[in-house]
Amino acid sequence: MPITIHSEKKLFHLFGKTFSYVLYVDEKGSLLNLYWGRKLPDGDVTYILKEFRGGASFDSEYSRLPFELPTVGTGYFGMPAVRARNEQGNDVTVLTYDSCAQVSGKPALSGLPAVYAEADGEASSLVIVLRDALTGLIARLKYTVMENLDVLTRSVELENGGSENLNLTNMLSASVPLPGNEYDILHLKGGWARERRIVRRPIGEATTRVESRRGASGHEENPFMAVLTPDTTESQGEVFAMLLIYSGSFLAATEVSNFENSRLSIGLNPDVCSWLLAPGETFQTPEALLVHSAEGLTGMSRRFHETIRTRVCRGYWRDRERPVLANNWEATYFDFTEEKLMAIVDEARKIGVELFVLDDGWFGARDNDAKGLGDYTVNRKKLPGGLAGLAEKVHALGLLFGLWFEPEMVSPDSDLYRAHPDWCIHVPGRARTQARQQLILDLSRADVCDYIIEAVSSVLRSAPISYVKWDMNRNFDEVGSAALPPEDMKSLHVRYMLGLYRVLETLTSRFPDVLFESCSGGGGRFDPGMLAYMPQTWTSDDTDAIERLKIQYSTSMVYPISAIGSHVSAVPNHQTGRTTPMQTRCDVAMSGNFGFELDLSKLSEDDMATAKKAVELCKRIRGTVQQGEFTRLLSPYEGSMTAWQFV
Ligand code: DGJ
Repeated sequence: MPITIHSEKKLFHLFGKTFSYVLYVDEKGSLLNLYWGRKLPDGDVTYILKEFRGGASFDSEYSRLPFELPTVGTGYFGMPAVRARNEQGNDVTVLTYDSCAQVSGKPALSGLPAVYAEADGEASSLVIVLRDALTGLIARLKYTVMENLDVLTRSVELENGGSENLNLTNMLSASVPLPGNEYDILHLKGGWARERRIVRRPIGEATTRVESRRGASGHEENPFMAVLTPDTTESQGEVFAMLLIYSGSFLAATEVSNFENSRLSIGLNPDVCSWLLAPGETFQTPEALLVHSAEGLTGMSRRFHETIRTRVCRGYWRDRERPVLANNWEATYFDFTEEKLMAIVDEARKIGVELFVLDDGWFGARDNDAKGLGDYTVNRKKLPGGLAGLAEKVHALGLLFGLWFEPEMVSPDSDLYRAHPDWCIHVPGRARTQARQQLILDLSRADVCDYIIEAVSSVLRSAPISYVKWDMNRNFDEVGSAALPPEDMKSLHVRYMLGLYRVLETLTSRFPDVLFESCSGGGGRFDPGMLAYMPQTWTSDDTDAIERLKIQYSTSMVYPISAIGSHVSAVPNHQTGRTTPMQTRCDVAMSGNFGFELDLSKLSEDDMATAKKAVELCKRIRGTVQQGEFTRLLSPYEGSMTAWQFV
């Protein structure tokens, strides 16, 4: 049984295949986390508490208790997982145990992506209810053990059961104490064109924050953090890892107390997110995926890969081999005609490519990145036969047809902006700062989301489109919405994501056979939230094969190969100027969802022959590459060689 409840002791034991997670309600009704680690026999482990209580201190013992959901005003001075400001103007919240319920299967989270179960037997869930007697705040802590996947999910639903407004300013999804501070931390830091570099260092004595305040998970950090025993390698050592199934502003943090105990937390970023909770209303946090591995980083990655690939990703393409594609972006940028495109498609056909993707520049006045976003009417000067005409020609050569969109954005120079200047995120009286000469549509507004749904739907209905590249090329600046009251303005970060998830849920359900790939200036929103709607992501705008070795290696720390988009591009490479042989470029790109992003009509005969052979090989082995078991063998971060294997 993955969950046992010892009612007399108020002890909850959650078992994975290899891990245990033990909770306990103490004599004052506080919910404490006694243990997360290697699997224990079922039994009374309350003796562990002594470890946390011992030691002389200036503070009360509450400062040291291993709270499962720390709040403010309980004598605990660490980062609160929940902070709720009441109408008296204070944050004091004392959550004590109320009740619990066991559920078979895994209930969905309303409006949010999450791990799902396909059959009730795959998942066992537990809800523990805590309550604050004075403010009426109710916290429902939701846990699910996915036994075969050997992972635990956690989230919190907050309900205002009182009679006055509560302003939620901390809404973390998970916050778990870990004994001692003999640990390293590992996270994935990066930037545009150098996404997700592995950073590993001792946890130290201070707080470490890994975060985004950008309105997207971002290029700079990934919503993931791991705590490792210092001896941990790929194949041995203990790892405690958290991943947030969310695509917006997040915080992951480690703290070390003055008694040298540690804590790992993850959730919405409290600096930029809050939520006004009126009496009777509820707020659901995003879900955190918790992985414990006693088999090093490989064990951690396998659990993430399996879970994301089979129980976060959904739909028709989840288990299917992904088509080899040719994308025209680096081949033509905005400068294309139907003739130029068809010349590329014709060469693509000769080497066995299965899908042609038309990137940016096909609509409105979009001849460069200064205009046109929002006006999704096909540009007949470039494509006289429209999308349907082009798709027909592509199909006649035996390839599927795919299309680029950037639906969350608007160019100030567009008909959409001229008609609805208040539809973008902005603050009255302040500049509307542009990045890539564009503004962000305010997806906290239902009317804006409905517009996007209909605009994208009508294009998808206008031609046989089998694939969509969903791009997003800037982050938040002046964060304000014309539709939100001042007292709830700081909910915009969260409401934007909820709006985006509604748009994606609607479109992916309306067009279930379309293969969606997400993108954000390359890998600026490579996260499990997007993967719940789109099973693959464009990994980086850096297409240099040597740079990609590092980017793809470290992306695999968390993400399965079936999620990693990887293309062969021209040499000298457009981002780095480096020249690499065609064989090298093919080998690297084939270690992900294979594609080409160069003008195939300009390749030499030799390069065409190499590319053709690579496509043939890819088709033979892609089942194993995309769905098989992946192992990192030699790190490019530790020397000048790298190796990985697919089984
Ligand atoms: C950014 C993407 O990462 C590129 O692949 C390309 O689609 C451009 N946007 C188009 O504007």
